[in-house]
Amino acid sequence: MTPKSVVAAKQNFRFSHKQRVGWSEVDAHKVVLHAHFQKYFDAAEAEYWRTLSLPYDQTMAELGGQLCVKKFSLEYVAPARCDDLLDVRMRCARIGNSSIVLEGAVFLGDALLVTCEQILVFASPVSQRPMSVPAALRKVTEDFEAGLPVVHYKGGSWDELSDDALELRIEVFVEEQGIALESEVDLHDAHAMHVVAYNGLGQAVATGRLLSSDNDQAKIGRVAVKRSLRGTGLGSGVLRALQALALQRGHSMVKLHAQCTSRGFYEKMGYLAYGPVFEEDDLAHIKMSLSLLKSR
Ligand SMILES: CC(C)(COP(=O)(O)OP(=O)(O)OC[C@H]1O[C@@H](n2cnc3c(N)ncnc32)[C@H](O)[C@@H]1OP(=O)(O)O)[C@@H](O)C(=O)NCCC(=O)NCCS
Repeated sequence: MTPKSVVAAKQNFRFSHKQRVGWSEVDAHKVVLHAHFQKYFDAAEAEYWRTLSLPYDQTMAELGGQLCVKKFSLEYVAPARCDDLLDVRMRCARIGNSSIVLEGAVFLGDALLVTCEQILVFASPVSQRPMSVPAALRKVTEDFEAGLPVVHYKGGSWDELSDDALELRIEVFVEEQGIALESEVDLHDAHAMHVVAYNGLGQAVATGRLLSSDNDQAKIGRVAVKRSLRGTGLGSGVLRALQALALQRGHSMVKLHAQCTSRGFYEKMGYLAYGPVFEEDDLAHIKMSLSLLKSR
């Protein structure tokens, strides 16, 4: 068992999830009803796997198992109140043969409110019998806890990456956004450079492409992240990888046509919008650019 002092110190956790206490979660004493902490840890666990770039359903289906809760224990130290912004921390403390032990702690500022220990068992979805934790799941979890990268970004030609890039692009642009397949896959793909982000299980989780032009400008496009993993840094990772490729190819400026709904994402990455809003594939777009020399 992990000593209390380890779980009680925020810095012993790499993973953090913010949770605001809602009106419906406090009891007659105006403190959070104890049962809601279990819900907070449950939400944090889902975010934990997402932070490891593992789309939960697809991952478990591919590994042929599921994570069943064997034990869930909570220890209360101090109360939380309505409107508190809680910092729910979680870490994988141990991986046995079939078990994964997650430890959690809820903090308000630096004050410890609740700790939790959760024992998960990797089991067959059919018989519910325990199975060995697959080596790939063990490795990605251990790598994350050791501070190692859990995603790698691969750059390459359409011949090398089309299978993975196309599957993601169809999922995001065709099936989710309703863009016609004929517009989505165009003649530029064959001579563009592509980037695909792979998680620790080798699943493709994000992509994008770079088109070079004759002058010092390059064009970025088709940036897509698996829906369940958005907001975990994959989109910015792909953009950075594409920008690095552009620099290597001697470009000093990248341009793109951003869907207006993604404008804020590109602005966070330093891109500036210019010109009027226009329609492309029936979606509102805006032109944006980034000077690679300034952003270095
Ligand atoms: C747009 C997209 C690529 C962003 O990827 P992502 O992995 O979710 O983005 P990241 O996690 O790297 O986010 C980086 C920052 O941008 C912010 N951000 C992400 N999407 C945003 C959006 N649509 N509007 C405003 N800000 C956004 C994030 O909050 C984060 O901010 P922070 O650094 O302050 O935390 C992704 O949402 C996607 O695939 N969308 C569907 C396809 C699409 O529309 N592609 C763009 C075509 S132009």
